[in-house]
Amino acid sequence: MQSSMSTFERLESEVRGYCRDFPTVFTKARGSLLYGENGQEYVDFFSGAGTLNYGHNHPSLKQALIHYLQDDGVLHGLDMATTAKRDFLETFETLILEPRGYSYKIQFTGPTGTNAVEAALKLARKVTGRTSIMACTNGFHGMTLGSVAATGNTRHRNGSGIPLSHVTFIP
Ligand SMILES: Cc1ncc(COP(=O)(O)O)c(C=O)c1O
Repeated sequence: MQSSMSTFERLESEVRGYCRDFPTVFTKARGSLLYGENGQEYVDFFSGAGTLNYGHNHPSLKQALIHYLQDDGVLHGLDMATTAKRDFLETFETLILEPRGYSYKIQFTGPTGTNAVEAALKLARKVTGRTSIMACTNGFHGMTLGSVAATGNTRHRNGSGIPLSHVTFIP
């Protein structure tokens, strides 16, 4: 009999990460729970590495998503103007900015943590005019070139293919 992970081992890239630490095939997720096809229920302390602040498939978020899809809402708009984005900006202004007297502008996030780190590195370099970054020895900052240059772990660094520079490590 094939192991439950055999399809992933046969067809998915060797760069697979988390599924090696959690060798279970998950079928459903609700609130704080994940369900495996082995019939087990798991409390999901990992929660998408901390991204699922409302748990899995929160009923209010699910309803809003279903409604948006049924209405043919724009799913991929790059950074074009959409009614959904305008609603979000206006709600953010009313609930977060105005009560605090903030006049900040909003930069929408990229899809990954390493995008955020790259943006921070670029911004710091642009504002200071300097190139060197200090990073803590055991920090993990992502796998793209700028972020991995500031990541201490040699296994991650060794996949880069070019020398990584402009980072000084501190303990
Ligand atoms: C502290 C920290 N920075 C950056 C990243 C990179 O995020 P991503 O894997 O979404 O690119 C991670 C991911 O685990 C992280 O824990």
